[in-house]
Amino acid sequence: MPDHPDQGKAATAPVSRRGVLQGGAAIGAGLAVGLPSAADAGAPEAVPPAPVSPPANTLSPVVMQQVSFTINGQHQTLTLDARTTLLDMLREHLHLTGSKKGCDHGQCGACTVLSDGQRINSCLSLAVMHDGGEVTTIEGLAQPGPEGALHPMQAAFLEHDGFQCGYCTPGQICSAIGMVEEHRKGWPSWVTADLTDAHPSLTDLELRERMSGNICRCSAYPNIVAAIRDAEGKMPA
Ligand code: FES
Ligand code: FES
Repeated sequence: MPDHPDQGKAATAPVSRRGVLQGGAAIGAGLAVGLPSAADAGAPEAVPPAPVSPPANTLSPVVMQQVSFTINGQHQTLTLDARTTLLDMLREHLHLTGSKKGCDHGQCGACTVLSDGQRINSCLSLAVMHDGGEVTTIEGLAQPGPEGALHPMQAAFLEHDGFQCGYCTPGQICSAIGMVEEHRKGWPSWVTADLTDAHPSLTDLELRERMSGNICRCSAYPNIVAAIRDAEGKMPA
């Protein structure tokens, strides 16, 4: 009769992971001590490994390119790394930080600007693609000068409290201006029922769908919709 309930069960007890590791280390050490060295065994002396040279630099050299644009009515000429995005050019080179970098992947719309009147995600567009073009950012919407009037879309966002933190707001406003122009041209959207209708009505569903590329993390959507609807009728044709 065993004195302890576990006595006699050692052979069948489960082996712990720690036990296996400790056992393996002990066996390895024992083998290392017990094995004869290569010299002892008469084996040829090991050849030292050849020095490894660092890998060749496979990166392409930076290509700099001169680009000229009209930004917010002002002519600008810059020499840029050809890989610079339009958003980085605006923010880092021209210090126009109104356009925001949210996702940098075309998913949030915070970087929306107007390129030749059309809304685009500036994080997805290379600056060199806009050579000779015209770009308008949130900084260029109001009339110039200290007394310059706000763009009707800017005024409506203020009037209807179409923001909370404001991070998405420059993109929302630029996008809304571009969206109204698209709608005026009769461009259909994903929810336009009749694609032969040259002037689909700007219902709430249409408006929300057309603005769905602009995310507001504060969820100011009801006020944003109200602001756009108000401004739509005030924007010059
Ligand atoms: S920063 Fe360009 S879409 Fe988000
Ligand atoms: S107002 Fe804060 S993200 Fe839109």
